[in-house]
Amino acid sequence: MKLPKSYDIIGDILIFEIKDKLTNKEEKQVANELLKLNSNIKVVAKRADIYKGKYRTRNIKILAGENRTETIHRENGVNIKLDVKKCYFSPRLSQERLRIAKLVKKNEDILVMFSGLAPYNLVISKHSKAKSVYGIEINPIAHKYALENVRINRFSNIHLFKGDVSKEIKKLRKKFDRIIMPLPKESKSYINLALMYLKKNGTIHLYLFSDEKSFNILKREYSKKFSVKLTKCGAYAPRIYRICLDLKRKI
Ligand SMILES: C[S@@+](CC[C@H](N)C(=O)[O-])C[C@H]1O[C@@H](n2cnc3c(N)ncnc32)[C@H](O)[C@@H]1O
Repeated sequence: MKLPKSYDIIGDILIFEIKDKLTNKEEKQVANELLKLNSNIKVVAKRADIYKGKYRTRNIKILAGENRTETIHRENGVNIKLDVKKCYFSPRLSQERLRIAKLVKKNEDILVMFSGLAPYNLVISKHSKAKSVYGIEINPIAHKYALENVRINRFSNIHLFKGDVSKEIKKLRKKFDRIIMPLPKESKSYINLALMYLKKNGTIHLYLFSDEKSFNILKREYSKKFSVKLTKCGAYAPRIYRICLDLKRKI
């Protein structure tokens, strides 16, 4: 039996990735085996695609258990309701979300650009004394779940807006102590926009994909305007990392 080496558990849904070529029958056998191994898992699916498109979603194929893609995932003491097929979510970033939440000081105003299901907003609200945690998300389905997540976790300092960051940010008429930019493939192109809404001495958390050789180049690129700290927060592809640049504004 070829059991997959890589998988994610999101709520009670297990999504695996398998590099070996399997027949449909073999795939189902693997899925049924995984279902038997863990009584908390109710759905086993295969990752049928990479994250793609504007909404950064991925296709999945259900192979065993119940026929559904909605679940509730628990991380860092918050509940996150989602549809794993229609919204982006990575349980692998839970430590990174907690790292950011622990940097937040009392009474900060925070903006999460590209907020998705609002996992950053929820974890920050739970683990800090932020005054406000705003979020802007373009995927209407992710936004709907995010609103529900705020309601089920009973947080009162989270404010979520649906739409394109470049349009919605203007409507907030507000500057922020901290702006989080978790869209690694494109976040760099929004940095000037973020700077317009960042308070003096504010901090940007810019997520990027990068190989190790480019780390110093990236640090130099931002060191004129910011003091820079780089954190590796996971592997994206062989030798390519997801990184976060904590950029504290100097001027
Ligand atoms: C990589 S996901 C991160 C979602 C969430 N912050 C998280 O950590 O789970 C990026 C999100 O940005 C959204 N997005 C992409 N372009 C956007 C834009 N121009 N304005 C607002 N949201 C956008 C996508 O729909 C997606 O949900």
